Order: sequence, then structure tokens, then C-alpha cells
Amino acid sequence: MSERSQQQTGRTAAHDSAFLRACRREPVPHTPVWFMRQAGRSLPEFRKVREGIAMLDSCMRPELVTEITLQPVRRHNVDAAVFYSDIVVPLKAIGIELDIKPGVGPVVERPFRSRADLERLRPLEAGDVSYVTEAVRMLTAELGATPLIGFAGAPFTLASYLVEGGPSRNHEHTKALMYGDPELWTELVDRLADISAAFLKVQIEAGASAVQLFDSWAGALAPADYRRLVMPASAKVFDAVAGYDVPRIHFGVGTGELLGLLGEAGADVVGVDWRVPLDEAARRVGPGKALQGNLDPAVLFAPRAAVEAKTDEVLRAARGLEGHVFNLGHGVLPDTDPQALTHLVEYVHERTAR
Ligand code: CP3
Repeated sequence: MSERSQQQTGRTAAHDSAFLRACRREPVPHTPVWFMRQAGRSLPEFRKVREGIAMLDSCMRPELVTEITLQPVRRHNVDAAVFYSDIVVPLKAIGIELDIKPGVGPVVERPFRSRADLERLRPLEAGDVSYVTEAVRMLTAELGATPLIGFAGAPFTLASYLVEGGPSRNHEHTKALMYGDPELWTELVDRLADISAAFLKVQIEAGASAVQLFDSWAGALAPADYRRLVMPASAKVFDAVAGYDVPRIHFGVGTGELLGLLGEAGADVVGVDWRVPLDEAARRVGPGKALQGNLDPAVLFAPRAAVEAKTDEVLRAARGLEGHVFNLGHGVLPDTDPQALTHLVEYVHERTAR
């Protein structure tokens, strides 16, 4: 079989999965479930295979990426796999000196502050991340009818890491650049949009069935500023992958005031954190979009009966939605009991079986 038809076969096998049907707002046999950060430190089998291997090194080893991506699918029976990688992988791949520090996050050696720094952001080519192509091909062959979600960081969230030099609570350097030199800012996020779009295309062309754009820190912005200074760049990413028959998910944290704009940027599915109930989120997003979310990840530390009660609340608020993908409101916390996650998947499947 040619490579092209092999990718098509992967997507065809997953086409009628509950996850892709929900993204397309079609009827489903049960509400599909997956978790952001489902592959990761909550799993002992993850900690075991990652022993002695740095995060970014692990992303460049297709066999390991395949194993880690499959671990939560095997264990939890989730309805989709999410590609094991990181939002900073494409930046590393074009030569930006950065590392992921355990317990901290991405740290950039020389933060971006001036026009001269733009020169360090060259376009991403498929050959820069051939290990991603290889891993996605291996994965889609293994996954069969289970869809694979590819992802990228959105321009604002990537810019925040580059400009701050690491994780930041207030994003003050980022905002200083954004408001102080909007022209340079716009060029920066435009280049990042091209890089994110290229990273998504690599995953789609290798066989990913859906993509999620993570704008984790966009909630730090007021809607008017988001619309003017950030949304055009994120819309460029979504436009670049609009020609593929692949649902596009848009997610951020603390984005209650931005939900309408997250949809408007070009998403088919809007991710919602736990601060806004899904029925209210649906009003803010408007018709024609599916929603994803939104159990508070910290709820999983409560006793099982409380987790079930909070899950019922989410499902009740989702009842009138055209398309609902169950997820947490943000990533799985590292100390989460994996059994609580397995039970949650089973519980949602049971409660929503039609
Ligand atoms: O299972 C999955 O969701 C797929 C894998 C995935 C990772 N990072 C693996 C990872 C995904 C989708 C991401 C995206 C990502 N990376 C985001 C957006 C999602 C979000 O949480 O808002 C962000 C902001 C990053 C940047 C980043 N990378 C952070 C903040 C951290 C955590 C640092 C820490 O140690 O607490 C990372 C590291 C990282 N990315 C880990 C994993 C499994 C843990 C580090 C390790 O195992 O050494």
C-alpha cells in the first residue's frame, strides 16, 4: 500500500468512531472521553519507560512515542489517543535553544525581546520533525479504529514561553511587547502561526484524525485585545488546515470571556475549562460548534461518589448540546490515581449509552 493510501486507511477506520462523530455533531452510541495529558506522570508504566530519558529526547524516539501514546488507550479505554509530544517540539526542531525542566516546564535559553530575535524563527519543514511523521504512522497503524489527536501550541502561548523565557504567571514581558510594539508582536505571532500550522500538517498528513490547538494561557487576555492581537494568528493556523477533513479543537484555560472568539477563530470544537458550565458555554459559543470538557481535574482527588456526582453535573449541563466530547477542564494532574481515570471513562460511557 502506498503511504498516502495507508494514511487514508487510518482515518477511514476511525471515521465512524464516537469521538469523530461527536466532533462533527452527529449522533453517538455514547459520549466519547479522552483526557488532556492522559499520557504522562499519572501512569506508573509511563514513569518506567521514561526513566533516565529527558522529556524532549523522548519526543524524538518514535517507538517510545508510540508506546507512551498507547499506554492510556490500553489502560483507560479512552475514545481517542493524543499524540505524545510537546508544544515546544517544533521550536526545538528549528534550532531554538530550549529545554523542558521537570516540575517547571519549557525554559528558553535566550528569551525573545527584539526584532533581531525574529531571525531565529525560521519556517518549520516536515524534514525537521521526521520523527513525528514516523511516530504518527506507527501509531495510526496500531490504533486501528481509535482516532489519534494531533496538536500544536497556539501562537500566543508559544510566544509567552519565548518572550518570558519560561512559565509565567503574569506574562508581563509578553504584554510589554504586545502593547509596546504591536508591529513586532504581530510579526512574531505570524511566524509562530506558520510553525504551528506546519506542525499540524505533518501530523495530519501522517494520519492524525483530529487536531487540537492549545492556547493554554490565552485566558490572561481581555477579549478586545485577544481579538485584535492574537485571534488573527490563531485563525491563520486553523485556516491552514481547513482543507483536510479533520476536526479542529481550540482550547485554553480561564477563557470564559473568550469562548465565542475561540470558536470564531475557526474551530469546530471549543474546549471549555471547569469554570463555565457547558450549557452556558454553548450560549457563549453559539450554534454550529461542538464542545469539549469540562470536569475539574482536581475533582479526581475526591472520593468516587463525589467524582460521580460532579461528572453527573457535567453530563446534565451537556444534555442539550449537539456534540459533546467529555474531557477534563485542563490536563490530568501528575498525582492523579490512574484508577480514578479508568473508572471515570467507564462511568461516562455507562451513563451516556444510547
Ligand atoms: O497526553 C497528552 O496530553 C499529550 C502530550 C502533551 C504533553 N504536553 C506532554 C508533556 C501535550 C498535549 C502537551 C502540551 C503542552 N505542553 C501544553 C498545553 C497543554 C496544557 O497543559 O495547557 C503546555 C502549556 C506545555 C508546556 C509544558 N510542557 C508544561 C507546562 C510542562 C509541565 C512541566 C512539569 O513538569 O510540570 C511540560 C512538560 C510535559 N509535557 C510533560 C509531559 C508528559 C511532563 C514532563 C516530563 O514528563 O518530564
